[in-house]
Amino acid sequence: MYTDKVMDHFSNPRNVGDIPDASGEGTVGNPTCGDLMTIYIKVKDDVIEDIKFKTFGCGAAIATSSMVTELAMGKNVDEALKITRNDVADALEGLPPVKMHCSNLAADALQAAIEDYKKKQAEKE
Ligand code: FES
Repeated sequence: MYTDKVMDHFSNPRNVGDIPDASGEGTVGNPTCGDLMTIYIKVKDDVIEDIKFKTFGCGAAIATSSMVTELAMGKNVDEALKITRNDVADALEGLPPVKMHCSNLAADALQAAIEDYKKKQAEKE
């Protein structure tokens, strides 16, 4: 039911952990299942230099968090804001329909982290 890409990112997730002096962080919960995901970003000159995640959730949530960190790494924050749950699912070569909601978490947590970064930047100015 899962693609090899999903299994790979589930068994060997990339960028797990946190960033103590993160430029932004975002936590979202999935009301359907109660799973939780936090994404931390380190930003320099509006480019995501480092990104890590912590996910308490299902295998698909772990695979999508891992994939979203790979998609966002090295991107300008405005470009990274445009990453959708479909981009994440496509990069994983598909998710079973009942698991599509899990990819919401990854895209939403990334957006929340970027918005947190932007808010902090605005406060500095
Ligand atoms: Fe909760 Fe997948 S079942 S995020």
